[in-house]
Amino acid sequence: MSAFTITGGRPLRGAARVQGAKNSVLPILAATVLSGGPCVIHNCPDLLDVDSSVRILRYLGCGAERESSSSVAVDTAGMSRHDIPDSMMREMRSSVVFLGAILSRAGEAVMSYPGGCDLGPRPIDLHLSSLRQMGADISEAGGFLICKAPRLTGCDIHLSTPSVGATENTMLAAARAHGTTRILNAAREPEIKDLQTFLNAMGGRVSGAGSSTVVIEGVRQLSGAEHTVIPDRIAAATLLTAVASAGGEILLENVWPEDLETVIAVMAEAGCGIRRDGTTLLARRDKALRAVGRVRTMPHPGFPTDAQAPVMAVTCHAEGTTVFSENVFEGRYRHVGELLRMGADIQVEGHVAVVCGVPKLCGAQVRATDLRGGAALVVAALAAEGETELSGLEHIDRGYEKLEDVLSALGADIKRV
Ligand code: EPZ
Repeated sequence: MSAFTITGGRPLRGAARVQGAKNSVLPILAATVLSGGPCVIHNCPDLLDVDSSVRILRYLGCGAERESSSSVAVDTAGMSRHDIPDSMMREMRSSVVFLGAILSRAGEAVMSYPGGCDLGPRPIDLHLSSLRQMGADISEAGGFLICKAPRLTGCDIHLSTPSVGATENTMLAAARAHGTTRILNAAREPEIKDLQTFLNAMGGRVSGAGSSTVVIEGVRQLSGAEHTVIPDRIAAATLLTAVASAGGEILLENVWPEDLETVIAVMAEAGCGIRRDGTTLLARRDKALRAVGRVRTMPHPGFPTDAQAPVMAVTCHAEGTTVFSENVFEGRYRHVGELLRMGADIQVEGHVAVVCGVPKLCGAQVRATDLRGGAALVVAALAAEGETELSGLEHIDRGYEKLEDVLSALGADIKRV
């Protein structure tokens, strides 16, 4: 079992290129199933979740290979199965977005419920209800979902909450359906726009992504395409919190600042100087950190729930009190217990966490409880006095590409042991 050892107190300096977006590339890899041909995905980060998607594609009978350090080639012409084994479904949440794609391509799909970070209950009722409205017959037996839809038909689908995954699954199912589908109250995350771009590159007719109505005109056939994945806004946000926590000055390359507005605003309030120039961000923290009042997580364009934990790590040693409201997931404070071990002062009551900044955090033995919670512990450790030993790296490796190399290159004292 590997762990990070991190000795805090070293400011970060230098430049880092931000990886491609995990939450874009996973539905895009699922979407390749619809093409029935060769696709090449560039700026594809090297992550455990990407490996899981590649394994699913191969199990389905498709070709999927990493061509270079940043490109994955997929050929779904030979797809010969329509089921996904339970062990593969449990590896990540995004396994569920294969449902819309497989059902559309094969007319049937068999899979169990997906795994992924434990953030409290993560139902898929909206995914299933959308597919049922499009004509799918879905039953459950022995923990498996058995889905049949010889012909999916477009319709108006009102999501009761703007679920990212349900929006993606519906887009995938609708891309080759008969007629037009409108998703109302759709998720507006940048990753939805990236999926739209890829579907259109394959010959799809999708519009509206980024707004709360996505319109998909079904087409008879899609074909293979090449695509470059957007930058990972949460990896960028995490690096911003890292420099906020450790101090110093870093240049982030391959960033779309407009996707990071709320995080930039919060980090500026905490005392960071942030300058944007095209696709780069220069972030500096040379003054004392200040608390940021209130942080409320919301669906995009609100403050992203995925940045809540890393930002909390910064506020743990900022002067004053910060109040967090987690409004997207029910159980997204599992990192709090670990931050307490490092000397933080945090009280949690339901979906609210009150963080009273302490003058300094101390290195400790801690464990990543989920992907972003794990990143938060790294961010805290960069500023802590002494050494932190962080285990549970399997969570961090699901979403961050060689995080220790990125941070070491910026001057952090972090090693994988
Ligand atoms: C995506 O998860 C991301 N994952 C998450 O990133 C991210 O935190 C989340 O969107 C919100 O931005 C991927 O893209 C792979 P949702 P997803 O469906 O699609 C409820 C990370 O750290 N809901 O938008 O699972 C749900 O319980 C991760 O990178 C239903 O009630 O999120 C939650 O409260 C973790 N029924 C809310 O909607 C459903 O059928 C938002 O979930 C679906 C969702």
